[in-house]
Formats: sequence, structure tokens, C-alpha cells
Amino acid sequence: MAREGLRIVIGSDHGGYVLKGEIAEYLKGEGCHVIDVGAYTPESSDYPDFARLVSEKILKGEADRGILICGSGVGASVAANKFPGIRAAVCHDTYSARQGVEDDDMNVLCLGARVIGVELAREVTLSFLNAEFKALERYERRLLKIREIEQGWITKD
Ligand code: RB5
Repeated sequence: MAREGLRIVIGSDHGGYVLKGEIAEYLKGEGCHVIDVGAYTPESSDYPDFARLVSEKILKGEADRGILICGSGVGASVAANKFPGIRAAVCHDTYSARQGVEDDDMNVLCLGARVIGVELAREVTLSFLNAEFKALERYERRLLKIREIEQGWITKD
């Protein structure tokens, strides 16, 4: 079971459209509040648009975690990570999905619908949603360094 009442925002381009529907239905059955930001049709669409919609929901505090699905998961993760405060990664195994939250405070899971099957995608998603950040000093220190990078800090020559 996923943690009760989690607010999950989910989005995909055409490449992830079918898997998005399957994961959204699964999460509703798990008691999550699911916000589907599209795509709503299988026609060709652009993953940065959905990376933006998912990221903005999280950054506005309207969702707790996000899931982005494209063909490989790569384009969606590249786009989502351009939003300061978003920590997105492609995970196709349960270890990375759990540990990415516990150590790195990952808040967006990216999946590649042309890479992963629906059963494994469900298990990876559950590992992601049930994990919580462990606020150890060394993890916080590393996140602070990421925030510095987001703020444009560059090493002086
Ligand atoms: C779309 O054909 C595909 O390029 C996209 O879904 C994704 O795989 C990009 O990373």
C-alpha cells in the first residue's frame, strides 16, 4: 500500500501515455490523490510541457510527489531538473527509487514506457512513494550544495 492521502501529480508525453493511465489507476486504487496533468490523448506531444506542469504543481505545494513518463524517462528528467527545487531521476529498479528519496530527497520519479513493463513500473512507483527522506547531516549538506548550484554559484578561478 502507498501512504494514505499522498497527492501525486502525474504527466507524460505520447511515449508514456498508456503507462501513465495504468499507473494513475493503480495509485488511485492505493488510496492516493492523483492529479493527471496530461497528455490526455496519444497524439505526439512534447515532454518539456508535462515536465513543467508536474514541476509547477510540486513547487506550488499542490502535490507531494511527481511522476513523469516519456519513452525513455530521460527527456522528462532532463527538463524537470531545470526547475529549482525539483530533484528528478529515471529509476527502473526499486533500490534506486527508494534510496533516491531517502538520501537525495528525489521528488519526481521518471519512467521510460519503452523500457519498463507495467508490473515493474508499479513496484518502482510504490518504492518511490513509500520512501521518506532521511534528514542526516551529510544528506542535508549535499542538498545545500545543490541549492547553491541552482542559485548560480560558480567556483571562482
Ligand atoms: C518521444 O518520441 C521520445 O523522444 C520521448 O518520449 C522521450 O523518450 C524522450 O526522452
